[in-house]
Amino acid sequence: MKVFPSLLSADFSKLGAELSSIETAKADGVHLDIMDGVFVPNLTFGPPIVKSLRPHTKLDFDCHLMVTNPDPLIEPFKFAGANGITVHLESCPHIQRTLSQIRSHGLRAGVALNPGTDFKGLNWVLDQIDLVLVMTVNPGFGGQKLIEPALSKAGALSKWLDKECAQLGLKKPLIQIDGGVDPSHVARAKELGVDILVAGTAVFGTKDYAKAIAGLRG
Ligand code: DX5
Ligand code: ZN
Repeated sequence: MKVFPSLLSADFSKLGAELSSIETAKADGVHLDIMDGVFVPNLTFGPPIVKSLRPHTKLDFDCHLMVTNPDPLIEPFKFAGANGITVHLESCPHIQRTLSQIRSHGLRAGVALNPGTDFKGLNWVLDQIDLVLVMTVNPGFGGQKLIEPALSKAGALSKWLDKECAQLGLKKPLIQIDGGVDPSHVARAKELGVDILVAGTAVFGTKDYAKAIAGLRG
């Protein structure tokens, strides 16, 4: 199980230092939540801040774009130092083009699904997906409670991907869950086939990041 702390719950007055701390604490990557105040009712940061953070760490930059129109942001995030870009199926009418655009920049292409969104909509673009992000809260804020049926959906998704990807001869995309994740969910997430846990509060809300990350890794 890999653990990507979400910087949303870090101390925003010292992001560079927070990044170094989670790197020392053996995080597998860092999850960067980009919000536009339209797709979700909150605002965070954009490519200039991501670029300014890049020299502070070697960690994988996993950019989760909670924005209405991600296409024009793909290139700026690539140049800011992103390793992966995840877009929401709900905000991408031309998802095939958006994903192939992400890959054309040499980045990991991810699709996020809100708790109410089914995964079957990914059927015809499976060949373009490296990662599926199953939102286990409604996106917009850290510190919310995990929505149980959304976690179960990750298990159903894993089984479905096993079957479809085998049939199509494709590599199975990684499965990531995000929102309200704490150590009590780890065993179940492993059992369901989740590869990456994103956790904000469960890491940055503690005093000992190394202990928190080890606890989440299980
Ligand atoms: C929610 C974000 C999450 C959030 C997770 O919109 O996508 O990444 O930061 O924070 P916690 O773990 O506190 O729910
Ligand atoms: Zn996120």
